[in-house]
Amino acid sequence: MVAPDGSPDGPDEVSVYDSVGGLPWFVALVDRFYDAVAIDPVLTPLYPQDLRESRRTTSLFLAQFWGGPPHYSKVRGHPRLRMRHFPFAIGLAERDAWLGHMLAAVRSSPVPLPSEVEALFVEYFERASSAMINQDR
Ligand code: HEM
Repeated sequence: MVAPDGSPDGPDEVSVYDSVGGLPWFVALVDRFYDAVAIDPVLTPLYPQDLRESRRTTSLFLAQFWGGPPHYSKVRGHPRLRMRHFPFAIGLAERDAWLGHMLAAVRSSPVPLPSEVEALFVEYFERASSAMINQDR
């Protein structure tokens, strides 16, 4: 069984990280996502021109969050994601654009995801992206 919070509790549970095939799956997910971000007129003004570092930190963060090794924290420290997003004006339009690309990336996984794993990702990205809104417009 896949553990609902990403981390296995017992011998019969496997992390989401392991169930999708580990880091390469997250690297590919984040690549599909940033390929779309790179040409989105709502999002490009927020991001650096060179997205290599964004690809690296985001894939390490997500891999860690879903039960993989803590490589993100080794490089960047405590995630504090809401705080790290304060410098960027994120309203509904930015959240919707971001979430749309991430859900498209999840749904275009070359390895078909078990429906319960896909549902966990959808629920998580909806919640996390809404929590990042810091502009009332
Ligand atoms: C709601 C819409 C969002 C927008 C517009 C947005 C935008 C950005 C921008 C402009 C950066 C800085 C450039 C960079 O370092 O890549 C960034 C960093 C980052 N974002 Fe987001 N983001 C959003 C939501 C999220 C969500 C939901 C997550 C995680 C589930 C996330 C994870 C990250 C990570 C891990 C970083 C790098 C942080 C670091 O420097 O260590 N973002 N984001």
